[in-house]
Amino acid sequence: MGIDLDRPAAARVYDFYLGGFHNFAVDREMGRQAITMWPELPEIMKANRGFLRRAVRFLAGAGVRQFLDLGSGIPTVGNVHEIAQRAAPDSRVVYVDNDPVAVEHSRAILAGDERTAVAHADLRDPEAVLADPAVTGLLDLAEPVAVLMIAVLHFVPDEAAPAELVARFRDGTAAGSYLAVSHASAGDQPDRAAEHRGLYQRTATPMTMRTRAQVSALFDGYELVPPGLVYLPEWRPETDGPAVEQPERLPGLAGVGRKL
Ligand SMILES: C[S@@+](CC[C@H](N)C(=O)[O-])C[C@H]1O[C@@H](n2cnc3c(N)ncnc32)[C@H](O)[C@@H]1O
Repeated sequence: MGIDLDRPAAARVYDFYLGGFHNFAVDREMGRQAITMWPELPEIMKANRGFLRRAVRFLAGAGVRQFLDLGSGIPTVGNVHEIAQRAAPDSRVVYVDNDPVAVEHSRAILAGDERTAVAHADLRDPEAVLADPAVTGLLDLAEPVAVLMIAVLHFVPDEAAPAELVARFRDGTAAGSYLAVSHASAGDQPDRAAEHRGLYQRTATPMTMRTRAQVSALFDGYELVPPGLVYLPEWRPETDGPAVEQPERLPGLAGVGRKL
């Protein structure tokens, strides 16, 4: 898997939305076009990172010490190991991505950190991921693990049967494990979502937005923790202030479930 400079890549476009520097002209051009269509996109991506942060803190608080971050992306501010280890220093984190740029940068920033590892692997092959030496070398799969699939399953088309893939990770992890998911949804803006999907057709990872019912189905065999499956800003917001206004403006769906 080499680096394709002629085509935008989801990992690098996402880095651009978040204000990072690990992206190329072709990614920035696509990102700018997408933002013209959908000005809230950078805010949606930040809301997604906010959910990631709160979910990892929640999981560390629930006693989880092992994290398998599938589709982990290019490292940016507030990476999973930083959040988890701040909450519980003995937390171990394996990052998994199929994008070479994401893997290379993850390896560079994690060199020398014995409680983290990186696997260059594809989540569409769960057994290979779970048997990867980076995973088996750091995580004990007989103990609970938090499987994170944050903003990645919308890059898995229906033909690849995402619910089945999630179930194979569920079956490969111990009772008491958790699943955290965020997923693009069209919310009440189907036209904008269709245009947005059109842009991602140019990448190696076209996008499939899913409905609330479809995202709920990914949690089969898990019990959703409160508040259930909600829009990104609504998942356990940290401020005690007024309720989040118009959360449907940032229409990604987010939830965390505990394996039954
Ligand atoms: C939008 S980024 C999300 C990064 C991070 N999880 C977050 O939420 O901030 C999606 C990442 O998923 C990766 N990805 C897409 N399809 C994948 C697959 N089949 N296997 C592994 N990684 C994948 C992309 O390369 C990209 O880095």
